[in-house]
Amino acid sequence: MKTYLITGGCGFIGSHFIRHVLENSSYSSILNLDALTYAGNPLNVIDIEENYPDRYKFIKGDITDEKLVKEIFSQNEVDQVIHFAAESHVDRSFDDPMQFMKTNVLGTTILLNTAKEFWQKDEWISKRFLHISTDEAYGSLSLGEDDKFTENSPLKPRSPYAASKAAADLLAQSYFESFEFPVIITRSSNNFGANQYPEKLIPLMILNMKKEKTLPIYGNGLNIRDWINVKDHCKALLAVLEKGQVGEIYNISGEQEFDNITLVNMLCEIVASLTSKTKDHFKRYITFIKDRPGHDLRYTMDCSKVQNETGWKPSNNFMKDLTGTVQWYLTHDEWVRSCEFSLQKWMRAHYDL
Ligand SMILES: NC(=O)c1ccc[n+]([C@@H]2O[C@H](COP(=O)([O-])OP(=O)(O)OC[C@H]3O[C@@H](n4cnc5c(N)ncnc54)[C@H](O)[C@@H]3O)[C@@H](O)[C@H]2O)c1
Repeated sequence: MKTYLITGGCGFIGSHFIRHVLENSSYSSILNLDALTYAGNPLNVIDIEENYPDRYKFIKGDITDEKLVKEIFSQNEVDQVIHFAAESHVDRSFDDPMQFMKTNVLGTTILLNTAKEFWQKDEWISKRFLHISTDEAYGSLSLGEDDKFTENSPLKPRSPYAASKAAADLLAQSYFESFEFPVIITRSSNNFGANQYPEKLIPLMILNMKKEKTLPIYGNGLNIRDWINVKDHCKALLAVLEKGQVGEIYNISGEQEFDNITLVNMLCEIVASLTSKTKDHFKRYITFIKDRPGHDLRYTMDCSKVQNETGWKPSNNFMKDLTGTVQWYLTHDEWVRSCEFSLQKWMRAHYDL
């Protein structure tokens, strides 16, 4: 039986990953350490609690609480750490950079250090510390530029969020370089799917269409993002854990690039097809708002390394997966209500909407 310590497992990607591990590897158990910030939702893991009572345990706590993290390592035989916990929303990092530094940098350091302290060196060959990071650490490509970020591209983060993730990446890498500690880093593109806190573009747009509210888009809407289905991302992460090399970095993307306005138009079309309204009915709610400073234009990553070394490939089913995602948000009212209070407060303060 392998024990995975998952941090941030009540968030969007972490909850999908826990489900993926439990469904696909019967000799595994999960400890989920999550502070339940505004982005952590117990409803994201409610089915997991019900379906796997013997293989899943939730620990409410903060990764920056060193005493607690040490207690977890002393009381459990942790085999692998999969570190998702983070402050993850770029816009919020402009409002409160300190919180991003605390969770994303200090929290990562405490986890790395504690794992290093508790794991005996002769066991490191079978241990893994998987640090989950982002393409935003690389900074921005120009529009139309052909180059892609490889794992060797320099890090040039342009927001406090991206800077905190880049700092955490470098720390994780330093643990491999300095101690040969078994760290692997992954950097993924934008994820989409069910259970994503609706401050992020796709769920925000879908739910605002449902409520017939403004669809706010930064600048001219031409910023390009590469989208990956969260379930594809989770498959890639498990493949990296099983077949990736320690000390290495792996880029993971869905190879599905769209500019924001094209994506929002697609969402208008899908929501229209699932309701009795027309696409144009929703499009009139599109409102271009003042761009944020340092808004990256485009990230495109070369993902040949993860594909060659692990055999994983993205499913490239964008329209089908996006339609499934829209259906999920339109039919999960209880989940939506559970996010609503803190979301409305923040949206009013941030966007003046
Ligand atoms: N969502 C994306 O598109 C994307 C893309 C690339 C990388 N990432 C990275 O993947 C990871 C997961 O992202 P997500 O979208 O699932 O984030 P999320 O915001 O949905 O979830 C974050 C989770 O971490 C928990 N958390 C926050 N601070 C904590 C703390 N101090 N201690 C313990 N738990 C804490 C929250 O309660 C929440 O459950 C992050 O590290 C993020 O940087 C996300």
